[in-house]
Amino acid sequence: MRKRYAVPLGLIGTGAAGLGYASLIERNWFRLRRFEVPVLAPGTPSVKVLHISDTHLTPGRRRMLSWLRSLHRLEPDLVINTGDTISHPDAIGPFLDALGPLLELPGAFVYGSNDLYSPVFKNPTRYLWRTSQADYAKRRRVPDLPYRELGSSLAAAGWLDLNNRIGRLKVGELDVEFGGIDDSHINRDRYDRIAGPVDPRADVHLGVMHSPEPRNLDRFAADGYDLLLAGHTHGGQVCMPLYGALVTNCGIDRPRVKGLHRHDDAWLHVSAGLGTSPTAPVRFCCPPEASLLTLVPRT
Ligand SMILES: [Fe+2]
Repeated sequence: MRKRYAVPLGLIGTGAAGLGYASLIERNWFRLRRFEVPVLAPGTPSVKVLHISDTHLTPGRRRMLSWLRSLHRLEPDLVINTGDTISHPDAIGPFLDALGPLLELPGAFVYGSNDLYSPVFKNPTRYLWRTSQADYAKRRRVPDLPYRELGSSLAAAGWLDLNNRIGRLKVGELDVEFGGIDDSHINRDRYDRIAGPVDPRADVHLGVMHSPEPRNLDRFAADGYDLLLAGHTHGGQVCMPLYGALVTNCGIDRPRVKGLHRHDDAWLHVSAGLGTSPTAPVRFCCPPEASLLTLVPRT
């Protein structure tokens, strides 16, 4: 082979190998992340919270469905789903089926923008200079995915619909107060509807949202919520070794694009999520994940 062809062919080969790895291997390499969150009063028994997010489910994602089906073995006390659950009108049945016994547990959910709007192809590199919020602002479409059916199915199982709502559940021995908002990414968040100090009689207070937008995180923390749960960022989805996420697709800073961090006096857990949009089916240096958060006493 002539030397002048060797470099470009090498680059093309490396790119193709990277794309194959990101789309076929890492995108299906599901991980469970575990964190302890010290938010309970001393002497309170701990509880396990399973946080799932951003499944972007289509009926053909058999590996994800199989992994989801295994999560009940963790024996969580509470399940939180922070949205972007479906990407196809026929995905609700497989999602509920995969949750299986988890639906019998206390649970709560919010919607993400992708529960309302079916995916359309976009140039993925545009995320480098702007968030996808601009796409929704430009083309306000009528929702074309059955998000209400998704919500009513989860609510019928007893899960709390936290889209601009507050709620309360008994979780193990604990009285848990919830506040939640609909997706700020498409301007459906109405924090004013849930605003106000948390009830000090509850044992712990959880704030639930899809996108970890700082203006809402500030208000949850100021109202006294102990732990805030969000998804949306996909952890950056395509990350650089030794650098991490290139973008967060919302107002949160890059160091908090996923994982457990502080936000004022509250804890914040951002899930990197389990899926990808069907139009950008790759993950690199950012494996799909669910998290098991063990709420423990403060020290
Ligand atoms: Fe998402």
